[in-house]
Amino acid sequence: MSASFGPYTTTPMAEDVALTPQLVGERVRLRSLQDSDRDERLALGRHPEFVRLNGGQSAGADRPFTDADADRWFAARSESLRWAIEFEGQLIGEARLDNVDVEQRSATFAIGIYHPRWWDQGLGTEAARLVLGHAFDDLGLHRVSLTVLAFNERAIASYRKLGFVDEGRERESALIDGQWHDDVRMSLLDREWRAANA
Ligand SMILES: CC(C)(COP(=O)(O)OP(=O)(O)OC[C@H]1O[C@@H](n2cnc3c(N)ncnc32)[C@H](O)[C@@H]1OP(=O)(O)O)[C@@H](O)C(=O)NCCC(=O)NCCS
Repeated sequence: MSASFGPYTTTPMAEDVALTPQLVGERVRLRSLQDSDRDERLALGRHPEFVRLNGGQSAGADRPFTDADADRWFAARSESLRWAIEFEGQLIGEARLDNVDVEQRSATFAIGIYHPRWWDQGLGTEAARLVLGHAFDDLGLHRVSLTVLAFNERAIASYRKLGFVDEGRERESALIDGQWHDDVRMSLLDREWRAANA
């Protein structure tokens, strides 16, 4: 990242957006994906509740996470600004800024900690805060938005702690196990981020 790239005041530059810098918090470290992550991801497997919270069908939610799944997961590493989340030296999840638009200074955010053993300890929220700091303070984005299933109350609570504001509901936008569910759209603006992190 260029040292002269000041926060808030300039339009982000394409070469800055392409970088995935290391982001270090008190407990988690975010870094670009590395070769050894493929096998770590494979070993972590697929947890049915993680699948459910991401809108997957229950049929197949407990099928094994295969070598082919791990390969596909790893191959997507450069499709967006994508960080591996490490806790105590271990891969526990990932966070992404997708759809980075340098003209409109916007992006969408996604995060997932793969196993419940690491939920509800503030680790995901800490990781998200690091990514948002990069989005607003380094890249100079104006707006970060996300979509979350309305029944994913844990994620919504985490996003609200980060300052995300509800924008509306996409009614019955997800068909899961034969039942319709709403999605909630949320966003965070640079001035809200600054006010919350002054
Ligand atoms: C969403 C996620 C990143 C949040 O990270 P996290 O580290 O677990 O979040 P935190 O521990 O900081 O906060 C979770 C909050 O939800 C609350 N919570 C947990 N279950 C809840 C429920 N059923 N209803 C309401 N609140 C709930 C916790 O009490 C906590 O709030 P608090 O800090 O005020 O007590 C992480 O849980 C995760 O990856 N989950 C699985 C995948 C997923 O849902 N991804 C998001 C898809 S949009």
